[in-house]
Amino acid sequence: MAKAKYVLAVDQGTTGTHVSILDDRLRVVGSSYREFPQHFPKPSWVEHDLDEIWATVEQCIRSALKDAKLSGKQMAAVGITNQRETTGLWERSTGKPLSRAIVWQDRRTSEHCAKLREQGEEARVRETTGLVLDPYFSATKLSWLLEHVKGARKRAEKGDACFGTIDTWLVYKMTGGQSHVTDVTNASRTLLMDVKRLAWDDSLRTLFGVPAACLPEIRGSAESYGTTRGMRSLPDGIPITGMAGDQQSALFGQACFAPGEAKCTYGTGAFLLMNTGETPVTSKAGLLTTVAWKIGDQTTYALEGSSFIAGAAVQWLRDGLKVIKKSSDVEELAASVKESGDVVFVPALAGLGAPHWRPEARGLFGGMDRSTTVAHLARAALEGVAMQIHDLAEAMRQDSGRQIPAFKVDGGASANNLMMQFQADMLGTEVVRPKDLQTTTLGAAFLAGLGAGVWSSTDAIRQAWKVGKVFKPKMKPEVREKYLTKWRRAVERA
Ligand code: G3P
Repeated sequence: MAKAKYVLAVDQGTTGTHVSILDDRLRVVGSSYREFPQHFPKPSWVEHDLDEIWATVEQCIRSALKDAKLSGKQMAAVGITNQRETTGLWERSTGKPLSRAIVWQDRRTSEHCAKLREQGEEARVRETTGLVLDPYFSATKLSWLLEHVKGARKRAEKGDACFGTIDTWLVYKMTGGQSHVTDVTNASRTLLMDVKRLAWDDSLRTLFGVPAACLPEIRGSAESYGTTRGMRSLPDGIPITGMAGDQQSALFGQACFAPGEAKCTYGTGAFLLMNTGETPVTSKAGLLTTVAWKIGDQTTYALEGSSFIAGAAVQWLRDGLKVIKKSSDVEELAASVKESGDVVFVPALAGLGAPHWRPEARGLFGGMDRSTTVAHLARAALEGVAMQIHDLAEAMRQDSGRQIPAFKVDGGASANNLMMQFQADMLGTEVVRPKDLQTTTLGAAFLAGLGAGVWSSTDAIRQAWKVGKVFKPKMKPEVREKYLTKWRRAVERA
């Protein structure tokens, strides 16, 4: 019998790190998850410590190997997928971070973006990158670091400092500082890459004041990025062969290989992506044009609707408002009341993303009276998350001119049956949840396996994808309309 081949996938997300080990039939044989600290130094600022992130990666790899009862030597390849846009800067020779990383949710560069918009830069930025001028993306965050971290600009100009999103940071660390690379999907979120040429754009570099010497090399999504070196959890010499931003990886893991196929991942935020094939589609409805993946010479594009708060709303109910002990308690609390009454929640805790793009918007609870309880608030919070996705699906329908055939969902918060039922009710279409919700890690593992030759086509992933539960819309149209009217009014106020 041929020896089984194993692929290790690291999903480095906003709230935590997840590592899965898959065999060559795409079965998960071991996994591990760890949360890490979030730093909120000022209102609307969000930071991550790059070394804390790296520590969770090493710990999770060790625990996943233990869980699978395998040794690192048995891994045929490593795949990386990650929270996107989060911006780090470190010393090239030592890997020492020059500061904490600025997280995608951070709004400190809102004014910089507004200024560039006033200067009339939005159109060319949109045309070149497929994105909008919003603090969400990396470029203004990198500008901020170069401006405010002592000595950073000089070092970046000399090539002594490396810029990187989290994919780049992890490959750098995994290869003992040998590789300073990124993949097209992550690069397509920086506001610095030409989405058609798939190369850094010099005029945008100048606009954001970013020296070429600090930028990583842009690569495809399934190829060799280097081999492990000097890690504590894996031996030297394991090839790293798959890399993609987490939302693109989930699109891949959901087997959305044909144009028109789409998925929505409910993680810290919620992200709706539709495969648009080999052509980048320009949005008229406030969505983003992004690279889905590049395998060999073939580039696949996607339209994306990004909303910044999904699971993070539940985390806020848990850690901020302290109305629940653990995140999974939210469903029971919300289900303890039949409806949210007049209570409405706009989850703009980090501004509003697509299709509104209002970084200055803030969260809002409305419609409360003396009978309102925490259960109503919890229910309204879940409904608010689903409402945002309704707006994104509507924008996507306008842009693509087609209805999403099956609304595939995944991510930790999609385990919430109450929210998924409400989502189906608002969309008026079936919501399909796969058996395995870890489609992000599945996508990264599969890209790595493709890069290392464990699999030769995408058929295996289609076969591995299994329906878990289907939510059929049940709500009466007039009730749905009432919810939508209440929501639209609240969004205006937020
Ligand atoms: O664009 C941000 C996104 O990549 C973060 O994903 O899963 O950490 O919410 P997640």
